[in-house]
Amino acid sequence: MDQKLILTVSLLLVSATVIADYVRPPPRKTLSLPWGPKPASYPQQVHISLAGEKHMRVTWITDDKSSPSTVEYGTSPGTYSSVAQGESTSYSYLFYSSGKIHHTVIGPLDYNTVYFYRCGGQGREFQLKTPPAQFPVTFAVAGDLGQSGWTKTTLDHIDQCKYDVHLLPGDLAYADYIQHRWDSFGELVQPLASARPWMVTEGNHEQEYIPLLKDGFESYNARWKMPFQESESSSNLYYSFDVAGIHIIMLGSYTDYDEQSDQYSWLKADLSKVDRTKTPWLIVLFHVPWYNSNKAHRGEGDDMMAAMEPLLYAANVDLVLAGHVHAYERSKRINNGRFDPCGTVHITIGDGGNREGLAHSYMKPQPEWSVFREASFGHGELKIVNATHAFWSWHRNDDDEPVRSDQVWITSLVSSGCVAEKRNELRKILAAP
Ligand SMILES: *[C@@H]1O[C@H](CO)[C@@H](O)[C@H](O)[C@H]1NC(C)=O
Ligand SMILES: [Fe+2]
Repeated sequence: MDQKLILTVSLLLVSATVIADYVRPPPRKTLSLPWGPKPASYPQQVHISLAGEKHMRVTWITDDKSSPSTVEYGTSPGTYSSVAQGESTSYSYLFYSSGKIHHTVIGPLDYNTVYFYRCGGQGREFQLKTPPAQFPVTFAVAGDLGQSGWTKTTLDHIDQCKYDVHLLPGDLAYADYIQHRWDSFGELVQPLASARPWMVTEGNHEQEYIPLLKDGFESYNARWKMPFQESESSSNLYYSFDVAGIHIIMLGSYTDYDEQSDQYSWLKADLSKVDRTKTPWLIVLFHVPWYNSNKAHRGEGDDMMAAMEPLLYAANVDLVLAGHVHAYERSKRINNGRFDPCGTVHITIGDGGNREGLAHSYMKPQPEWSVFREASFGHGELKIVNATHAFWSWHRNDDDEPVRSDQVWITSLVSSGCVAEKRNELRKILAAP
């Protein structure tokens, strides 16, 4: 080969490696979903959620107010060996009236099993899979979803991964008082949310509070009923559930959380029931992050952190997943602002793809506790492999491909001896009035 050719080839190779720098794309427009005419009794916006051991709640909406809240289900398509009767609700919001919102609990269901089901004796058949009874278990995680072109991309990427349960740390539809946006969001997520349980907690975009006229969270509570009664909570805004050997607590950033609050008392009661020999992993979700070095929403989580961090620390929470800030960030194990091997890993994943776009500005320098931070849309996958090891990965929406951009093995606090070490501290804080 002559010298010139070699030089050209090597120049080409050098430029090929330089191209790899990622250029972040702009926000995408809000989707408009086609609203084809459907029979009034046709089930719409179908989604499922875990509802106590071996049970699942099926939620859907019909325009027809006389449509029954029944779900027929079974393990082979087209033949339904069981039928469950549920309840229904509806609400009005200024000039808007919702359809009939059906909530029907089905079960007992076998673990790790595909079920076929039909809602209200009408329309198409849906298919769901129940989570396994044992490790491994995989969660998909994405917050601040909204309903833009990027939301669609994030959902498509989640659809490609094999997961058991979807976790959403708040900000779902970005309806922001415009009620029909709740309906279009319900239609947008139906393909995923009718097939795997979606476990959500509330964000500021669910609040929709109007002084003297409307309490907060009316639409959210009517449409996204979570297993709060099943976990002895008096509010849909905070609750807990188990998946295999994992106890998951959903907290509310937008309801009282001080030491005198109902939420705090419930949290203490819930934590006192956790048996780490049965559920070695303890995970908490809420909307407003406590540890985040983005310039957006600075300090908004401080009060809740001051009230609740000592309790969560004593209880040995392995992982906190939050949203709100439209970017991704992962911390070291941390407590009270400092690295602590018995502290909690905090992950902010408010980058599902809503219309408000990304939060690009960060505090400088990067705090010592912050391991990885990036303002891009994407989703997380949490695979709990066994009682001691979990693999976390964050997948950035690189144009239209999911690209794994951050990944880490997390070992449980049970396995590192922290649970045993803090046993007395936890007992003391739980016994305090
Ligand atoms: C748990 O999973 C990790 C990672 O795959 C592995 O190294 C470890 O041996 C497993 N532990 C047990 C008890 O199987
Ligand atoms: Fe938010």
